[in-house]
Amino acid sequence: MQTTSQHGMWSSRLAFILAASGSAVGLGNIWRFPYLTSDNGGGAFVLLYLGCIALCGLPVLIAEIMMGREGRKSPVNAIITLAKESNRSRAWAGIGWIGMVAGVLILSFYSVVAGWTLHYAFLYAAQLFGGAGIEDPAATFNELLGNVTELTFWHAVFMVLTVGVVALGVEKGLERAVKFLMPALFIMLLILAGYGATTGHLGEAAAFLFQPDFSKINANVVLSAMGQAFFSLSLGMCAMMTYGAYLPQNVSIPRVAVSVALADTGVALLAGLAIFPIVIQYLGAPTGGGPGLIFTSLPSAFNQMGAIFGLIFFALLSVAAWTSSISLLEPATAFIVESTKMSRKAAATSMAIFTWFVGLASVLSLNHWSHVRILGFAIMDFIELLANDFLLPLGGLLIAIFTGWMLNDRVVRSQVEGEPALVITVWKWLLRVVAPLLIAIVMGHGIMTKLG
Ligand code: PHE
Repeated sequence: MQTTSQHGMWSSRLAFILAASGSAVGLGNIWRFPYLTSDNGGGAFVLLYLGCIALCGLPVLIAEIMMGREGRKSPVNAIITLAKESNRSRAWAGIGWIGMVAGVLILSFYSVVAGWTLHYAFLYAAQLFGGAGIEDPAATFNELLGNVTELTFWHAVFMVLTVGVVALGVEKGLERAVKFLMPALFIMLLILAGYGATTGHLGEAAAFLFQPDFSKINANVVLSAMGQAFFSLSLGMCAMMTYGAYLPQNVSIPRVAVSVALADTGVALLAGLAIFPIVIQYLGAPTGGGPGLIFTSLPSAFNQMGAIFGLIFFALLSVAAWTSSISLLEPATAFIVESTKMSRKAAATSMAIFTWFVGLASVLSLNHWSHVRILGFAIMDFIELLANDFLLPLGGLLIAIFTGWMLNDRVVRSQVEGEPALVITVWKWLLRVVAPLLIAIVMGHGIMTKLG
């Protein structure tokens, strides 16, 4: 068993928790969770989502971190090491390949949406210095989606920010960035949630989030909840595995995993409690809105609250996206560094350029190619669906089966040494039976209805 990684190590337990929560907390929490909740009927969706986090997400999160820390390399090579130790086929490294494909696909559209948030942060900053501001939010958003130059530019800016961190490496890049950005993110979120409480609609927002209406549940909603659980916890694409590879030996994996899951879920719910009161105040009902929800509903509020709130909100969102995108780029970068003679800088830059090009398909699907459909979906929606609702759960399923059934028991025990026996037993059976069955059923059923 190796105790360090060639790519560097987190300097402490806290550094890992910040980095992993930075990966988990992102557009998924503040952009995607609110609009999925509003599109899928509120409380019922939230309840399913929480169930997926507890029964599938957390067990798989522990498994991923463990696989990374045992393998100490990028996902593909880590799994090859693990398969060898356990006398299993190298073909399991396919999990790492699926992860890298999912990572490129996710980063490709993630960076486009993060580009929207940068653009909005910029608009509000300009307004503070006398710029015009956003008078008609729907028109501004539609204009942005139609403007290829603008979209491509901000997509590029965000990609440069992402490479900028990854190229500097684990300690000087990733760790330094999250130590500064995560506290900033938290403060901004608290300011906004505090404002949400002053609107007088907090009670309604809470009712919408926490009172389930079971008539809203169908196979599609369950699949979305499962996909969102994986997406939000950064699972199924080996991002957490990669971060686990840099985790010091003496840190308890179940404990850090619980902290990360709590931070991620807490931020999603807090974001809901910050955003829905504002949505209710300005749009009346919290239902519908789709991916544009926060971009069209919140600016009306910011017009009255003041541009500074708009700046804080979109800066918050950009920062959250940034600490996530670095974890999307890191696995492939580490893999290239291990497999070629390329430096980290060159590896990260080439991956980012490639992903940026893939992202142009999403940019164009918002305007010139909006008529193009794949299986009935616009390109960007299709990529999002393919990655989030299919590849991530599939990766999660394989990770659960590999760690639960294939991995040498001695290896597993050495990684959870000193943990309470009950914790290990519960984790193991969730991982072996509950998570795989749930994922397989939800995915099978959901895909059939989605495509049917
Ligand atoms: N968890 C991130 C978010 O919620 C997205 C992400 C998915 C990051 C997969 C890394 C890997 O925004």
